[in-house]
Amino acid sequence: MTNSVGISAQLDFDAWVKLKQAHLEQVLDRVLPSADLIPTTLHSAMRFSILGGGKRVRALLCYAAAEVYIQDTSSTDISLTDNAACALELIHAYSLVHDDMPCMDDDDLRRGKPSCHKQYDDATALLVGDSLQSLAFSAISQTSPSQNAQQQLQMLHILAKAAGSLGMAGGQAIDLSSVGKPLNQTELETMHRLKTGALIEAAVLIGAASAQPEASINNAEILALTRYAANIGLAFQVVDDILDVEGDSSILGKTAGKDANNNKPTYVTLLGLEAAKTYAKQLHDEALSALKPFSTQALRLQQLADFIMHRRF
Ligand code: IPE
Ligand code: IPE
Ligand code: MG
Ligand code: MG
Ligand code: MG
Repeated sequence: MTNSVGISAQLDFDAWVKLKQAHLEQVLDRVLPSADLIPTTLHSAMRFSILGGGKRVRALLCYAAAEVYIQDTSSTDISLTDNAACALELIHAYSLVHDDMPCMDDDDLRRGKPSCHKQYDDATALLVGDSLQSLAFSAISQTSPSQNAQQQLQMLHILAKAAGSLGMAGGQAIDLSSVGKPLNQTELETMHRLKTGALIEAAVLIGAASAQPEASINNAEILALTRYAANIGLAFQVVDDILDVEGDSSILGKTAGKDANNNKPTYVTLLGLEAAKTYAKQLHDEALSALKPFSTQALRLQQLADFIMHRRF
């Protein structure tokens, strides 16, 4: 591991977040087809659904995990990490576009704007999701002579597993089939770990793999990062369930109270509000304790765990 301290490591957390978010916006803008390219409606809708919104937590986790291994991102080629961060946000945006459709959560508001199917139509939203997903795999497999193909293959494999039926899409299937059914804690945990946890876990592991071929990261570090990511991934959805009850639509940028309206089992319905908060805090503490082997190199991951816990949207 490198101990050099670069520009990025010297920034306070808010400045680091803003820097990474702005940088990612440029990467996404470059990767997305231009809105005047045929089919123009589809391309406009793709850009509408991903640019200019969202916290970019998955991309930030990817950058933060890369910074465990590359501390001076100002003097190192981070194009692999950029492609990975971009791919993660493309998959995430696709999942949100589909999640909001009438056949899923039927939500009209996303990131403070009409959801994609409201702004356009259902067929366009379906195709936006499909196209963002393919673009994600195109971005993460983008090659250049300086890049290690084996490393990219590892990253691609992690992303593919996390997005599919054994990850996010599988979790969404469980979510939809659980409407109106009380789940026990194990069932709810499985659903949350898949629908949200899988991509968050992938973000951390792909970020690390983008900075260092997996084979050269020692096993104890992979296990520690996986433990961190699994805990923070589950905490993320527990907090999302809490915000659905306590949050305000104008701050959330999506419709508060939607879970209750849609009769979804959540951590709040299972445990109650206070116990759900206690559980989120336990997961957060567990995530932080997993980072102990890394000391200051994992500062951004630590800060992101706090951010995920204390966010208001
Ligand atoms: C919302 O994710 C959907 C869940 C997985 C809970 P985010 O809260 O990360 O949404 P954005 O990207 O910031 O809009
Ligand atoms: C969405 O969970 C998870 C994915 C999109 C994979 P939610 O349905 O709770 O997300 P929000 O609350 O609509 O953002
Ligand atoms: Mg949903
Ligand atoms: Mg939803
Ligand atoms: Mg939710």
